[in-house]
Amino acid sequence: MAETITITDNRSGESIEIPIANGGVDASQWRKLLPNVWFYDPAFSTTAAASSAITYLDGDAGILRYRGYPIEQLAEQSTYLEVAYLLIHGELPDQQQYETWVHDITYHTFIHENVRKRFMEGFHHDAHPMGILVSTIAALSTFYPDAKAIYDDDSRYKQIIRLIAKMPTMAAGAHRHSVGMPFVYPDNSLDFSSNFLSMMWKVAEPRYEPNPVLSHALDVLFILHADHEQNCGTTALRVTGSSHADPYSAVAAATTALYGPRHGGANEAVIRMLTQIGSMDNVEGFIADVKSGKGRLQGFGHRVYKNYDPRAKIIKQVADEVFGVTGKNPLLDIALKLEEVALSDEYFTSRKLYPNVDFYSGLIYQAMGFPIEMFTVLFAIPRTSGWLAHWLELLDRDERIARPRQLYDGAPERDYVQLDQR
Ligand code: ACO
Repeated sequence: MAETITITDNRSGESIEIPIANGGVDASQWRKLLPNVWFYDPAFSTTAAASSAITYLDGDAGILRYRGYPIEQLAEQSTYLEVAYLLIHGELPDQQQYETWVHDITYHTFIHENVRKRFMEGFHHDAHPMGILVSTIAALSTFYPDAKAIYDDDSRYKQIIRLIAKMPTMAAGAHRHSVGMPFVYPDNSLDFSSNFLSMMWKVAEPRYEPNPVLSHALDVLFILHADHEQNCGTTALRVTGSSHADPYSAVAAATTALYGPRHGGANEAVIRMLTQIGSMDNVEGFIADVKSGKGRLQGFGHRVYKNYDPRAKIIKQVADEVFGVTGKNPLLDIALKLEEVALSDEYFTSRKLYPNVDFYSGLIYQAMGFPIEMFTVLFAIPRTSGWLAHWLELLDRDERIARPRQLYDGAPERDYVQLDQR
């Protein structure tokens, strides 16, 4: 059977046959047959906006792989920095490459004093840390004008290292500012996740020693959040990067997209929802409200996963380890009951709505002491490596500037009427 599709323009009777390659058809072929007829797909639900070799996702089967490696193996055996290397370079590092990579990132964790003093401390005392983070990432482009050399390999490497290394420093700084605590400088004798915990929680002790179970749990969460192919934030990154903006500006755009409650802000929304439900007795009533259209079950559903999100499965295991140290998050029972009720309800099963990565991650973050405003920030830290992998890929594949078309449905031409005659 031919692996092609045929499109016929019934106005003219003309047809065009297009090969199906790698699960898609080349839309530029359609333009030959259909000039000025656009395919209407506002949220890109049926559009492959890029070809990519970074992350493989099968939403029906619940499969997620980075560069071919199953997420379950990476979560169990790798580290976040190794995964970041894999995403950026396409292959796992050898021993020497790994050591150089970790060294380079570790020694770029400090941020310019003006970034901290003039930018971060300039925000209002109750500024949301995600707002601080977005603006500070964008501001970094003014500190590193060499970042504009986007086709220079040395410059690219430097900006990638800087961004991955400085995200935890800016993230923790945003938190410290929002609670009126002094900024903590990086401790480069600690690993990536432990260093972040030190910058978050250190008070007067000479050296902060994080609990290794919590450091490891955070590292696993960073691995799970490192990339997720063409989601809203990554699409924002690719659209911005396609204009050849510098990587700080492109990552700031992606971080802004992540901020919204339908995307990275969902784990914050989950905790607010669980707190509002308040007790197991209210679960059935809450589900009934959702089914009658009063709000959504936060942390459930996904544009691509129509099965259990494989990351949610791993996170459930991590939750047990974390709660073994911190004690159980009292909201966990409500979450488990919600999941049980939803997964046995036809409304959710018929729509293939399952828990996504955000359903349990917020419970872990809260048990570890993170305020809920920090949850999306915790997502942005590791996603930076995925965004940068996409940034490199789109430049290397020489993608054209993103410029979709529209179907105009506004007013037809009309004449301007003077103000006193309207
Ligand atoms: N609770 C209740 N109903 C839902 C939910 C939900 N969480 N999600 C989707 N639905 C229903 C819709 O009402 C719709 O029902 P209908 O067909 O009767 O109208 C149907 O399921 C399909 O929903 P869509 O809105 O078309 O799904 P879409 O793919 O556009 O949305 C999204 C995906 C945004 C993730 C959605 O499921 C949602 O809002 N979930 C809650 C927020 C959330 O958890 N976001 C995190 C996503 S993961 C991430 O970004 C890291």
